[in-house]
Amino acid sequence: MSGQEEWHNSPIGVFDSGVGGLTVAREIMRQLPNERIVYFGDTARVPYGNKSKETVTKFSRQIVNFLKKQEVKAIVVACNTVSAYALEELEQETDIPIIGVMKPGARAAILATKNKKVGVIATEATVHSGIYTRYIKENDANVSTLERACPLFVPLVEEGLWEDPVTDEIARRYLSELIDSGIDTLILGCTHYPMLRSTVAKIMGEGVTLVNPAYETARELKMLLAEKGLESEHRPGLGTELYRFYVSDGAEKFKQLANSILTYGILSAKVVNIEEY
Ligand code: DGL
Repeated sequence: MSGQEEWHNSPIGVFDSGVGGLTVAREIMRQLPNERIVYFGDTARVPYGNKSKETVTKFSRQIVNFLKKQEVKAIVVACNTVSAYALEELEQETDIPIIGVMKPGARAAILATKNKKVGVIATEATVHSGIYTRYIKENDANVSTLERACPLFVPLVEEGLWEDPVTDEIARRYLSELIDSGIDTLILGCTHYPMLRSTVAKIMGEGVTLVNPAYETARELKMLLAEKGLESEHRPGLGTELYRFYVSDGAEKFKQLANSILTYGILSAKVVNIEEY
């Protein structure tokens, strides 16, 4: 990259274990329309939520290396599991700005709760890390939290079963304890879960506000780029690819799901051998 001019027009790298991070990419596209995006979904190795910290850290290092080869100017870890298990290491090892979704999600929940009782649904890894509770308590010690893992939600989303009797049944079981707990706010603490928003909303009822950390994450990214002088000044001209999508397997299936999640129509996703990075 030859100079500052080109650098701030470089894309933002966004990644997740699969299609979930597209719920964050969608919000970045909406709030930062001038920014280009390189998205990576690790579809060959999804789900991350039942894997160890070591494995998740190794996978995310490879993805960060891949994204850096694409000359991204900043990285958004659009995955709670990676944010919980590997963000601190990645921040230390990476010389470009890198942000996760959990701090923004915790902040949004604190703003939303009136009775100071917040629920979190997430992967086993995220719940096991206890990091949502830590971030919430650091910001407001009076907020109590209840975290529950929903391990089958990610495969259901990756299979496109967003509104389905099977999903309803599983969600009722996972959420039963949360329904009677008195929470008024529930963090969708996995980037796949916004695709199940209507199912979760129906079960939790009107008295519970659902928080999708994507909105707050895109806002934080916007502030970070402004602070570092890294904002793209113009929407890239015709002929420049605004958004590029890469996966580690199943490009056709990814493309179909992506086209139901994003308002922007994606024409192709390329398969990358991520083990090489
Ligand atoms: N979407 C990711 C998250 O936010 C990962 C889910 C998974 O692969 O288990 O946690």
